[in-house]
Amino acid sequence: MTRPTTTSSPAPQTQASAPAAPSSGLDGIEIGTTELSLVDGAAGRLVYRGHDVEALARTAGFEDVCHLLWHGGLPDAAQRGQLTAALGAARLHAWKQLPRLEGALDHPDAMVALRSAASRIAPDAVPELASEAVITGAVGVLAAAWLRGRRGQPVPAPDPAARHAADLLRLAAADGAGPHAAAGAAAGLDAYLVTVADHGMNASTFTARVIASTGSDLVSAVVGAIGALKGPLHGGAPGPVLDMLDQIAATHAAAPEAWIAAALDRGERIMGMGHRIYRVRDPRAAVFEAALVQHWPASAASALEGAGARLALARAVERAAERVLAERKPDRPLKANVEFYTAVLLEAVGLPRELFTAVFAAGRVAGWCAHVAEQRRTGRLIRPSVRYVGPAPAAR
Ligand code: COA
Repeated sequence: MTRPTTTSSPAPQTQASAPAAPSSGLDGIEIGTTELSLVDGAAGRLVYRGHDVEALARTAGFEDVCHLLWHGGLPDAAQRGQLTAALGAARLHAWKQLPRLEGALDHPDAMVALRSAASRIAPDAVPELASEAVITGAVGVLAAAWLRGRRGQPVPAPDPAARHAADLLRLAAADGAGPHAAAGAAAGLDAYLVTVADHGMNASTFTARVIASTGSDLVSAVVGAIGALKGPLHGGAPGPVLDMLDQIAATHAAAPEAWIAAALDRGERIMGMGHRIYRVRDPRAAVFEAALVQHWPASAASALEGAGARLALARAVERAAERVLAERKPDRPLKANVEFYTAVLLEAVGLPRELFTAVFAAGRVAGWCAHVAEQRRTGRLIRPSVRYVGPAPAAR
């Protein structure tokens, strides 16, 4: 492991040097190299294999990004068709497994259910499909099936010919009406899945790579990554962001700064703010804001018209949080991260907050699979050291 000179440098370090002091969070330590994604924390830029995520969210779908991450480049029409069909077949395979997964999915926490159910997916049972397609198709179906189960509804059969985002939305939706049925909803979810598909050496991806580095299997790596994503400091923040917006709307709509200041006085963190790498606003926040504006203009006369008001509130709360955090932590820029507008976007899509982290997993699983493959190709066993500070051993 090497320590880079800046967090924004994509260049691998060639000379190993032991850190002067142990790093409790591995801040700024490069654990190897990757061709998959560049996270430029100083410039606020996220790039998958040379493609800016802002452009991909506008012009590419989830299938395109899966192809980019798994096979090295954006697909042509035939390749896109093949990957769309593979993910569709994988969704159908996962759906057929649901009867034997019911116990695993029967938990009030979507991420606990997803962790259990995903562990029972067996790519070897579908040798005609690539393992990464099997597990990626399954994670989305399992998330949707969990929601259906909580509502006491059967899960309709996936449409193997459909695009992944549109089909997941249909599988998760309670009925044919509501926000999810609006024209922009599938496009909004597709933009979301594209944007969260990969993000450098984030905690869940690191977990997946550690597991892969031991020679373990893809499903084990994905299950471990789901466990890491579940935590509120990683993927568990968007639900609490909506809780915060609800509370501010109810009691502090005219003075969000006061709500933020009181939360900080209680020693709480402001969910959706701050990032380990970004020192500027997370570029993914802007992608989601743009998707909201594009797909649900404030004037939309539909079931989604509340999304415009929600977006306006979110922007006001973001500005208030930035101001208060800048006063309290002048040395540490704390700006909106991906989770802040994830909450607003996924709510506009028509998904409930208790599903948000599982939907994050449905997108990030593409990156986990790509990293597992890269780890197998280029990596070694990941096994860092730790400095012992316990009682001195007896002399021998
Ligand atoms: N609200 C209030 N204070 C925050 C904060 C937040 N959201 N994020 C960081 N800080 C403060 C910390 O309290 C710490 O202050 P201190 O030095 O006085 O103790 C300082 O900023 C540095 O925080 P640290 O925990 O070292 O940063 P990190 O790189 O480990 O944390 C996050 C990154 C994302 C875990 C952190 O910003 C956070 O907890 N954010 C809220 C949860 C969230 O949105 N998670 C989703 C991440 S995509």
